[in-house]
Amino acid sequence: MKPYTLTIIKPDAVAAGHVGKIIDHIVSAGFKVRAMKLMRLTPEQAGMFYYIHRERPFYNDLVRYMSSGPVVPMVLEKDNAVADFRTLIGATDPAKAAEGTIRKLYAQSIEANAIHGSDSDDNAKLEAAFFFSALEWVD
Ligand code: CMP
Repeated sequence: MKPYTLTIIKPDAVAAGHVGKIIDHIVSAGFKVRAMKLMRLTPEQAGMFYYIHRERPFYNDLVRYMSSGPVVPMVLEKDNAVADFRTLIGATDPAKAAEGTIRKLYAQSIEANAIHGSDSDDNAKLEAAFFFSALEWVD
């Protein structure tokens, strides 16, 4: 099995109608969608997903934002998936993201930054298991 990463198209990008364009951008860059769904996180679930950031000053706002509307989590497979996907989405702060990256094109702010990407292979495994059971993966 190839390496994979976990992404979430976040509430700002879903609400703005950017899901189709973002998926096209991702697939055109060579990623294969192995699992995907449209769902809304409860505040408790958003808090669990971002538990690693619980001491950060932006945590409560982040939990509120991530549970404010529907999101689209996906498992994306590709050689070097984690690093290549972080290059594709650009810096956390869209003001600092490179031209042509997903955050430069679609993000509104450092919080409402359109899309998440796992930061390591270990976290990709944890994050994929958070959203998807083995039965939801498609080859
Ligand atoms: P993400 O890559 O999903 O990881 C943590 C999220 O916290 C980040 O994207 C942003 O949505 C949000 N966030 C809000 N403020 C900040 C900040 N100052 N620094 C980093 N992340 C932030």
